[in-house]
Amino acid sequence: MAGTVKFMLDGQVHEVHSPDPTETLLNYLRYGIARTGTKEGCAEGDCGACTVVVGELVGDSVRYRAVNACILFLPTLDGKELLTVESLKGRDGGLHPVQEALVETHGSQCGFCTPGFVMSLYALYLEGPNPSRARINDALAGNLCRCTGYGPIIKAAERMHAIDTGAAPDMQAAVAALKAIRRDGTLAVSSVSTLTGREKHYYAPVTMDALADLVLAHPDATLLAGGTDVGLWITKQHRQLDVVIYVGDVAELKATRDSSDSFEIGAGVSVSDAMDMLGAHYGDMGELFRRFASVQIRNSGTLGGNIANGSPIGDSMPALIAAGTKLVLRRGGEERTIALEDYFIAYGKQDRAPGEFVARIIVPKPAAGLKYRAYKLSKRFDQDISAVCGAFALQIDDGFVTSARIAFGGMAATPKRATNAEAAITGQRWTRETAEAGMKAMAEDYAPISDMRASASYRLMAAQNLLMKAFVETTEGAATRLVGDRELAHA
Ligand SMILES: Cc1cc2nc3c(=O)[nH]c(=O)nc-3n(C[C@H](O)[C@H](O)[C@H](O)COP(=O)(O)OP(=O)(O)OC[C@H]3O[C@@H](n4cnc5c(N)ncnc54)[C@H](O)[C@@H]3O)c2cc1C
Ligand code: FES
Ligand code: FES
Repeated sequence: MAGTVKFMLDGQVHEVHSPDPTETLLNYLRYGIARTGTKEGCAEGDCGACTVVVGELVGDSVRYRAVNACILFLPTLDGKELLTVESLKGRDGGLHPVQEALVETHGSQCGFCTPGFVMSLYALYLEGPNPSRARINDALAGNLCRCTGYGPIIKAAERMHAIDTGAAPDMQAAVAALKAIRRDGTLAVSSVSTLTGREKHYYAPVTMDALADLVLAHPDATLLAGGTDVGLWITKQHRQLDVVIYVGDVAELKATRDSSDSFEIGAGVSVSDAMDMLGAHYGDMGELFRRFASVQIRNSGTLGGNIANGSPIGDSMPALIAAGTKLVLRRGGEERTIALEDYFIAYGKQDRAPGEFVARIIVPKPAAGLKYRAYKLSKRFDQDISAVCGAFALQIDDGFVTSARIAFGGMAATPKRATNAEAAITGQRWTRETAEAGMKAMAEDYAPISDMRASASYRLMAAQNLLMKAFVETTEGAATRLVGDRELAHA
């Protein structure tokens, strides 16, 4: 049992002894070690001022990704590499090409947002030269600038590689360093919270069996994956979490399997990685996931966390339910498999027994000819929570609907299938009249609420209209659709 968290920082092993398990990386950087280049704006993952880059060993290389330090718990850095804006300083004290490019293009005024932009651009810089405009827009969607505006910052992204392409980390040295600090057992950290005198415990197992034992032994523990929901319980709700079990170091939970008829995705796979895998087969699902929060949140947040959280407005659930996804839950040595839609019992209540956790997600590959559409309606295009999110998986054979799966988020207390609408269109010729019958039946499926995002009547009308949109796109529409700044090709 070790109580020391070790990670690489500026080429050195950095050790933190018995940290508070829920201390955020941002607080540690600013108040613990006075690395104040990283800024705090919102403390909830929205503004990007706190962006840092984290390197993680993946096989025989290190994968560097931008994340938000304000909602990342410090112990989760164990075994990883951290790069902050200070890490970019050259040996001669000079600016990094990313910073140089921002200076040249006048990409900063008040400068408060700038360290966060630098780190998002640095993560993009590490991906290689000539990023497309769409890729640049994605990389910057999680960073908020209120004075300079995005034009000069985008120019800096286009310019940075021309300044110098040699300033990347030494990959061999990074791999060797991370292998040297890799551990093969459970990290356990305990601390006493100074204000309340309560003990806090943090466990980070590396195997599925060890995780299963721990969850069984501590059924009331908070499971922590990417922390993009849990982090806010600390920074915004000031909750005390006495026992935290971190699932992010369990290799089996981060594995994916591409079999002949399905994708198996470990619950700990990031939304970014799931998006790449699923988006290649379900075009609209990839596009929906691209509008899921920001790059930083998608890099930290997991598909399992999105599902386990059970939010009625989570984006992955309608998309996955329509695709016919199954969920594998594990308790001790036992596993059970359920249809994803059956996991959501009521608001805030999921079909998860004490001691049980989400192990993996099984998404069937689309059958030949399947028409799959997913739509997210939100007030902003990027980095916004859905008011309504709907997905449609329709099998049309010889002009008839032979099967239909329709699911929505934002329409009920849980993500929910539109079973009446499905029944109204199944077996019918796929015509405008059939779509209209489905829209009418959908009124029986949902009784949405009014809240700050949308009124009940807007929600129902928008959901019904999305069925008509799916009809038009799968029959009368063009083979491609412009979504934001990119064109989607459709079957
Ligand atoms: C700025 C911002 C923007 C966001 N935008 C979106 C958005 O556009 N769309 C959207 O859907 N969501 C959004 N979210 C919510 C969040 O990013 C997702 O819900 C994310 O997928 C959660 O995953 P995580 O790994 O971070 O989960 P965590 O925060 O670690 O955990 C979430 C919940 O799941 C539980 N849990 C985690 N893993 C397991 C497991 N294996 N078994 C059982 N329980 C588990 C945790 O105990 C907790 O209750 C946003 C969040 C932020 C901060
Ligand atoms: S401080 Fe705003 S995203 Fe972290
Ligand atoms: S330069 Fe002031 S917020 Fe971006």
